[in-house]
Amino acid sequence: MNCTDFSFMQGFIRLAGDGFAKGWHERNGGNLSYRLQDHEVQEIMPFLHDNGEDKPIGIAVPDLAGGFFLVTGSGKFMRNVPLEPSHTIAVIEIDSEGKNYRIRWGLEKGGRPTSELPTHLMNHEIKKRLTNGVHRVIYHAHPANLIAMTFVLPLNDRDFTRNLWEMATECPVVFPEGVGVLPWMVPGGYDIAVATGKLMEKYNVVVWAHHGLFCSGTDFDETFGLMDTVEKSAEIFVKVRSMGGKKQTITSDNFRDLAQIFNVALPDIFLD
Ligand code: 13P
Ligand code: ZN
Repeated sequence: MNCTDFSFMQGFIRLAGDGFAKGWHERNGGNLSYRLQDHEVQEIMPFLHDNGEDKPIGIAVPDLAGGFFLVTGSGKFMRNVPLEPSHTIAVIEIDSEGKNYRIRWGLEKGGRPTSELPTHLMNHEIKKRLTNGVHRVIYHAHPANLIAMTFVLPLNDRDFTRNLWEMATECPVVFPEGVGVLPWMVPGGYDIAVATGKLMEKYNVVVWAHHGLFCSGTDFDETFGLMDTVEKSAEIFVKVRSMGGKKQTITSDNFRDLAQIFNVALPDIFLD
């Protein structure tokens, strides 16, 4: 048996390949992380080494202290994850203070975890608390239509939520809490991690203007499905704008009817 045979590894690897097939991961664009369950840590323990050094995360995540994460490597290509998982992804362990990480498996030809590790871990810490540990996946991609929207719509939660909801009927059911939007910021650091984390307190989807999207979810299917749903809706938005704009749409009252039948709460600020 190989370390990559475990089902969480297989799910991670499959998502990376599927995301590349969707066109969301040019070159090294995008990154993925998964918070391991205790039994998964036990299962992979025989495959882990202890040769790595402690490296600073760049933020403090005390609620993740001692936790294990599967993450993509910085500068590694998603399209290569299914071909060479042990060179492109890594299992890391967080230290007892939540300030450093150590590579315990993977990145066998060298490298370090994704440059967006601060944002991934900050989001994991917040979602672990808010969902009682149910959310385990954080996914960042560069889907073209969603990025295109950030050049034409005002960069606020309401305009993005409302337009994405209107472009596909299932959207308010898939992300009833809406989406958060950040203006353009320098990626890869502390400030964007904190700003993204603030929005993840409210939403499972955070737009990075002129850059991409972060999604949080329970498992690989849910999180990939969320990214896919948002990007499909963005694609319809681009087509509608290209055809001269909306002539009719789903109304606030339509959304209220939908919310009642599908038993979801849609925040009033997104309805007229
Ligand atoms: P990494 O290769 O460091 O994961 O960076 C890719 C990316 O999308 C940065 O936002
Ligand atoms: Zn990116």
